Amino acid sequence: MRANPDQRNKRYPSWGCVLDNPGVPGVPGSTPGKVRTMKLTVIGGTGLIGSQVVQKLTAAGHEAVPAAPSTGVDVITGKGLDQALEGAVVEINLANSPTFDEASLDFFGTSMNNLLAAGERAGVRHQVILSIVGVDQVPELDYYRAKTLQEDLLRHGPTPYSIVRATQFFEFMNTLVSETSDDTTVRLPATRLQPIAAADVAAAVVEVSTGAPLQGIRNVAGPDVFPLDELGRVTLAAQQDKRTVITDDQAGMFAGVASDVLTPGPDAHLAPTHYQDWIQTAG
Ligand SMILES: NC(=O)c1ccc[n+]([C@@H]2O[C@H](COP(=O)([O-])OP(=O)(O)OC[C@H]3O[C@@H](n4cnc5c(N)ncnc54)[C@H](OP(=O)(O)O)[C@@H]3O)[C@@H](O)[C@H]2O)c1
Repeated sequence: MRANPDQRNKRYPSWGCVLDNPGVPGVPGSTPGKVRTMKLTVIGGTGLIGSQVVQKLTAAGHEAVPAAPSTGVDVITGKGLDQALEGAVVEINLANSPTFDEASLDFFGTSMNNLLAAGERAGVRHQVILSIVGVDQVPELDYYRAKTLQEDLLRHGPTPYSIVRATQFFEFMNTLVSETSDDTTVRLPATRLQPIAAADVAAAVVEVSTGAPLQGIRNVAGPDVFPLDELGRVTLAAQQDKRTVITDDQAGMFAGVASDVLTPGPDAHLAPTHYQDWIQTAG
């Protein structure tokens, strides 16, 4: 594991802080440099990232409305969307597809189109989505093509927008490890990752969502780069799991993915939480 040298001077100054926002143009009470309160609808607001975004926005004094099937909102059928977006200034889309296969293209395509149309009806002034660093460089993965489609629809949509691209979440590592494991071994490629804590992703989403639309991308990543096989060893050791990690560039979801595609360039905003600290407390 090592810190990415290009990014050492790009430490993010204020994770989780929404005090110094530049304001959303045209939004009453949106004064640069001051906390303003506004309504933000969080699609997928019951999920891993969504629930933390709702919590952080609420703690900062905003009206954050979680929207998901369990709150009566479905982004595929459109059910409940208009009510959830009523009076919202910002729509944050953190919904996830139930599968990572080809069906995810329909999920992200249909949901993005429905959310853009509903946002326009409601007068939303800022659409935010959470995507993946390097997403458009991995067309061989259905899920990554689906997220690229989601980005393209947003970019060509009618509403000012921001795309937050995060690297793989710390919380996703167990899924990656278990996907290619048996009783004694775990097979993983040496693809380089720069994973990030979900809590840090949520803070980045909050910061972007409460500021002016970027009309572009913000890349966010954790502080350290690991080859995935090494990340597997760190994870198993922290969990007192005696299985052996075998380096296999054809194993798992990232089989054959070029080594540097999933790590960000020097423009990335780096989060503070180190995987090796986090994994000790995550168990
Ligand atoms: N995993 C990674 O490493 C990674 C990296 C970068 C970006 N991302 C992106 O981060 C985003 C959030 O991921 P996550 O892990 O927080 O997802 P998650 O925990 O699986 O949560 C997904 C959310 O979407 C909601 N949802 C599912 N189907 C829906 C529907 N038809 N209508 C409305 N809401 C629906 C779920 O509601 P219920 O709880 O009611 O099912 C839940 O609130 C995803 O878009 C993903 O692509 C992930």
